[in-house]
Amino acid sequence: MDQFLYKNGELYCEGVKASQIAEQFGTPTYVYSKKTILDHYHQIAGAFAPVNPTICFSIKSCGNLHICRLLAEAGCGFDVTSGGELFRALEAGGDPAKIIYAGVGKTDEEIRYAIETGIAAFNIESEEEAENIDRIAGEMGKKAVGALRVNPDVDPHTHKFTTTGKKETKFGVDIERAEQFFARYRGLKNLHVAGIHIHIGSPVYEIDPYVQAVKKVTALIDRLMLQGHRIEWLDLGGGYAVNYQHPEQALPVTEHARALLPLLKGKPYRIALEPGRYIVGNAGILLTRVLYRKMGGAKKFVIVDAGMNDLIRPALYDSFHYIWPAVPDPANVPTERNKDRLPANGEVVDIVGPICESGDFLARERPLPMVKRGDLLSVFTAGAYGFAMSSNYNNRRRAAEVLVDGENVKLIRRRETYEDLVAAERV
Ligand code: LLP
Repeated sequence: MDQFLYKNGELYCEGVKASQIAEQFGTPTYVYSKKTILDHYHQIAGAFAPVNPTICFSIKSCGNLHICRLLAEAGCGFDVTSGGELFRALEAGGDPAKIIYAGVGKTDEEIRYAIETGIAAFNIESEEEAENIDRIAGEMGKKAVGALRVNPDVDPHTHKFTTTGKKETKFGVDIERAEQFFARYRGLKNLHVAGIHIHIGSPVYEIDPYVQAVKKVTALIDRLMLQGHRIEWLDLGGGYAVNYQHPEQALPVTEHARALLPLLKGKPYRIALEPGRYIVGNAGILLTRVLYRKMGGAKKFVIVDAGMNDLIRPALYDSFHYIWPAVPDPANVPTERNKDRLPANGEVVDIVGPICESGDFLARERPLPMVKRGDLLSVFTAGAYGFAMSSNYNNRRRAAEVLVDGENVKLIRRRETYEDLVAAERV
């Protein structure tokens, strides 16, 4: 599945030792595997090949320019959700004809920028937004293209903060209002609404919510077509889960394709997909060093040099990331990453960062081999929503990012400097 494996007793990314990367670039550092990123992209393309989908990488999951360029060169488009993400996609060489723009709160400035750029489509999330895009395109003397983001009211059984396709969430237009929407906006002069978009949540570990959502929207499209609307594409969003806890936690994308293809094959419209996590989640780790042990009290703490500003997922969603020493003692070399694997002579600890909040943890009550000051730990499955959600909180400089390609390591984002921290400010 990925290229982060223990060989000769220590962790490698492809052909390079994690310990060597930490020596060379310091910690905390995000490490990505080029092969894993491209393999995952090709897995999705291959699995859905019978419907020849347009794949738009969800750039919010991992926006590093070098990584986005690799994907653009492989033929991938981008799903963006702000002017900044659009800028990033273009800087990475993204083809505007394969860029789609979602989000409930697009500003006039962002809409203008996207129309100027000639993106493929807006994923429109409300009636007022449709009217605004039409107005702005008219002022610019252009014709904009859009899909209606439909809220199919399906429960993806994931964290409530990342559930997006249920009625009570802010996303899309309720499926019951979709026909009314098309009837009302059919005659718009400057906006052509010709697609349907859904994104039900993330990460989604089950197939059934997708099947339910696709059944609902394909039936909707049938009705719309009978009413004389031209629907040219259906965008299924992203959300496919990856293995955080053990090697068989998430379904391979081939399983999703197997369930969805019968519902999609032979339809008179194109298919688009917006995966983020599936491509990059397991393609990145965060390397961090142990600063101190604090063992005297009721709890045992391992204090490391990465904090919630580097990886906020545990604090925000109580997410599990497998954490293990990069160079374990021989009794503790893992054959696979499995949260149930207990260390030989280990201890149960909280792995915490240097930030001044009790929410600053990477793991709680975690069995870990005994580690000491200076030991290197790998936080796995950190490639998606890891660096992308990092911040400068506590005036910490954001981590370096490196990409491994076989035996080669390339710095693809330098560690920030103290000067970077104040560069935008005026005294
Ligand atoms: N399309 C749309 C419209 C989205 O909003 C998202 C993610 C995706 C595609 C990609 O989903 P993916 O394939 O990466 O699961 N910060 C959270 C995840 C938030 C996802 C937001 N939208 C986390 O760390 O788990």
